Amino acid sequence: MCGIVGYVGKADAAPILLDGLRRLEYRGYDSAGIAVVNHDHVETRKCAGRISGLLKLVADDPTNGTYGISHTRWATHGKPTDQNAHPHFDESGKLALVHNGVIENFQEIKDALLREGEHHFTSETDTEVLAHLVGKIYDDSAVGVADPRRHKALLVEALRSALQQVIGTYGIAMVHADIPDFIVGARRGSPLVLGVGKDENFLASDVSAIVAYTRDAVYLNDFDLVAVERDKFEISSLAGERGEHAISKVEFTAEDIKKGDYPHYMLKEIFEQPGSVRDAMRGRLNLEECTAKLGGLNMTPAQLREVGRIVLTGCGTALHAGMVGEYLIEQLANIPTEVEYASEFRHRNTPMANDTLVFAISQSGETADTLGALRESQRKGFRTLGICNNVASTIARESDGGVYMHAGPEIGVAATKSFTSQVVILTLIGLLLGRMRHLSTAAGSRIIEALESLPDKLEQVLKLSDQIKTIAQKYAESTGVLFFGRQLNFPIALEAALKVKEITYLYSEGHPSAELKHGIIALVRPGLPSIFIAPDDALFSKNLNNIEQVRARKGPIITVTTESGAGKLKEIADDLIVVPEADDVVMPVLSVVPLQLFAYHLAVALGRDVDKPRNLAKSVTVE
Ligand code: F6R
Repeated sequence: MCGIVGYVGKADAAPILLDGLRRLEYRGYDSAGIAVVNHDHVETRKCAGRISGLLKLVADDPTNGTYGISHTRWATHGKPTDQNAHPHFDESGKLALVHNGVIENFQEIKDALLREGEHHFTSETDTEVLAHLVGKIYDDSAVGVADPRRHKALLVEALRSALQQVIGTYGIAMVHADIPDFIVGARRGSPLVLGVGKDENFLASDVSAIVAYTRDAVYLNDFDLVAVERDKFEISSLAGERGEHAISKVEFTAEDIKKGDYPHYMLKEIFEQPGSVRDAMRGRLNLEECTAKLGGLNMTPAQLREVGRIVLTGCGTALHAGMVGEYLIEQLANIPTEVEYASEFRHRNTPMANDTLVFAISQSGETADTLGALRESQRKGFRTLGICNNVASTIARESDGGVYMHAGPEIGVAATKSFTSQVVILTLIGLLLGRMRHLSTAAGSRIIEALESLPDKLEQVLKLSDQIKTIAQKYAESTGVLFFGRQLNFPIALEAALKVKEITYLYSEGHPSAELKHGIIALVRPGLPSIFIAPDDALFSKNLNNIEQVRARKGPIITVTTESGAGKLKEIADDLIVVPEADDVVMPVLSVVPLQLFAYHLAVALGRDVDKPRNLAKSVTVE
């Protein structure tokens, strides 16, 4: 949700700011802008639309300067127009500010400023109001102050004072024309990281924007303000106390976030899954005791044995992984497990027994609703663990322990590899808890074997990409897609439908297969394919009945099945996607990948912008 970059150093700022923005474009692409200070005036370029538009503006009319800020927007307040694009300015035109988040009380502040009669607003944004407020406080305090060093402190104070009046969330970067080589940042609820370089420093919403320049990073906490110069930085709290922060090494390199030869990040990430799934279980399988090792949970065996109930919470794809987890944990460990939409859970008075363990699942580790759910659950005194990909994320840092996915950066807006990693981790959790209870050595060993064979089986599934492309092209004229599955594969139907919605904009739904006859069958008609996830498992014959019901109503049928199921299905289904035989426990991971590919190829066939689907952004840091 919006990406911001700031730079102060000796190099030309614009190329660095623009390069950083390109890496953050997954966070929003409604408009983009840049402000660079050239001697004592701020040069800005901004426009509605993609960063490519901004690149052109800057190429036609370059900016000069060695410090500045930039922004890519996911619109909240105000339409995606040139006027609403960041950076925004104060009344003097000297202070430029970029913002990721929402200032909830912006209207009250705006009304108060308007009553003073000296403020003129040119946009509909909450951010411009904040820029005016900071600028006004700064201008008032700087009157008659000659010492330029004092101006730096006054600008930080002005931001602090303004933010004390603000209700809402923010990641901010700000420059002032009169204060050379100085940027100020602040965060509350929206991520902000400081990149520490040699004679240059950076601010960014995400390290991917700056990892090409430095891998030394300071992850700011909520209520931190940071004053950044070329060769130093100072962190303080909103309350004005000085803060100390450790410098961490970024886990990945600039190379890891390149698209390589793939046409889209989404396809690259789908193809990375044999490796990312392997990384999710690396060092976590205890072959001798046929269990899992998850040291990061920070819980003793005795504490784990006392867990009487589990809540899995997350949003979107992470929620679907949680739904698979619910089946897995109940099946393997016999612990009652609930899945809760984080956005509902955080505001709901869910009855929870004292022995409940909560998991917040989030690829980015920054999703506002999941973070809200984590905090609410901790406030009530429940141990709350994270399942995150982004190691330095707020959820990872604030949870009481957890399991990292180690899936590597996921840039495609549609989540793919993070989902399979989440499911594998939830399998490990089920295995660990199960082996502490009734799950036998033999059953544990069977699950480990199934997990270990996954990467090779995924390689086989990926070889189906061309066949799946042909199927997707055949159905490109469809009005929508229905997905059906049972048990562990029901959430896969939901996840596949979400992928199709997100990147093709076609209407799609996922349902338990047996629900068909309770209403959904009314939708079935030629032109609307039904995709059944129907491996040859204990419920295969029941799935067959459902497939026949669709066939009888002339609905096109695609099935994802296993080799042994294919024989029976080839007469009934219009198209078959055959995945390797595998234990039921790992089938969701094997069956989701062909459906990710189906959604991808369908979107490409429809000419959609796969990595930047309309209206979406990755890492949803607003509620
Ligand atoms: C779907 C998708 C979203 C995210 C959701 C949660 O493809 O990307 O539904 O899964 O916004 O994001 P994280 O996992 O970062 O909390």
